[in-house]
Amino acid sequence: MRLDGKSALITGAARGIGLGFAEAYIREGATVAIGDIDLAAAESAAAGIGPGAYAVRIDVGDQDSIDAAIASVVDHAGKLDILVNNAALFDAAQTVDITRASYDRLFSVNVAGTLFTLQAAARQMIAQGHGGKIINMASQAGRRGEPLVLVYCATKAAVISMTQSAGLNLIAHGINVNAIAPGVVDGDHWVHVDSLFGTLEGKKPGQKKAEVEAGVPAGRFAVPADLSGMAVFLASSEADYIVSQTYNVDGGQWMS
Ligand SMILES: NC(=O)c1ccc[n+]([C@@H]2O[C@H](COP(=O)([O-])OP(=O)(O)OC[C@H]3O[C@@H](n4cnc5c(N)ncnc54)[C@H](O)[C@@H]3O)[C@@H](O)[C@H]2O)c1
Repeated sequence: MRLDGKSALITGAARGIGLGFAEAYIREGATVAIGDIDLAAAESAAAGIGPGAYAVRIDVGDQDSIDAAIASVVDHAGKLDILVNNAALFDAAQTVDITRASYDRLFSVNVAGTLFTLQAAARQMIAQGHGGKIINMASQAGRRGEPLVLVYCATKAAVISMTQSAGLNLIAHGINVNAIAPGVVDGDHWVHVDSLFGTLEGKKPGQKKAEVEAGVPAGRFAVPADLSGMAVFLASSEADYIVSQTYNVDGGQWMS
């Protein structure tokens, strides 16, 4: 029960990695807001997890929605102790084919969404006066570029950089800001990635995924539970002295 009595908000938690984190946080004694732009999916996820989980609509690309979601968490749980900035979008294209619309969409959600949700959470945590934990979802894509993934990689590099600056600034208030950089994690996200690469590289369904999996030193894609230990640890008091770090949890794909 390392998160006993804590109130957490996880964005993009209706499915995938965020949902896995929500289940782990509940097991550790936290109350968890399943934040998602897809409220129906968030409600169904919260009902599936059971007591302690509840759904909150949040569009991290919209400031009013961010503010309303934080207010709703405080209304429901009386406070906010932990934020996981997990919601993000992916796209892929040849550099010469990248559109402004794709750039704007990904930067609005992955970068501005991460920053302004972090900001709103930090304001609430500072007002409460007991510090807090903020965990941003980066990616191995933020460690190096990829030929067809310029925009997404750039957004995740920005997440790593924002984690460093916000962490250095907010530790004065007892708020630890850190990040997790996964490698490849099975789920809806990879169905989308596989289909995009299928179109761009002329691959059959499942081919890109199989090729990527063959290159993972651990020999397989991750499942959300592979990342949950790090998410619980960074949200717990055991991580009080950890500031501005991004941890690779990627089966050995990247070393830094
Ligand atoms: N799956 C991977 O292989 C992988 C690898 C590295 C990093 N990541 C990162 O981990 C995080 C979670 O990935 P995932 O695979 O679980 O993603 P996913 O696509 O399965 O789920 C993302 C969730 O975010 C929600 N969402 C989308 N836009 C939103 C918005 N504007 N506001 C609020 N919610 C919104 C979606 O409805 C969805 O429920 C992301 O930050 C992703 O970039 C994933």
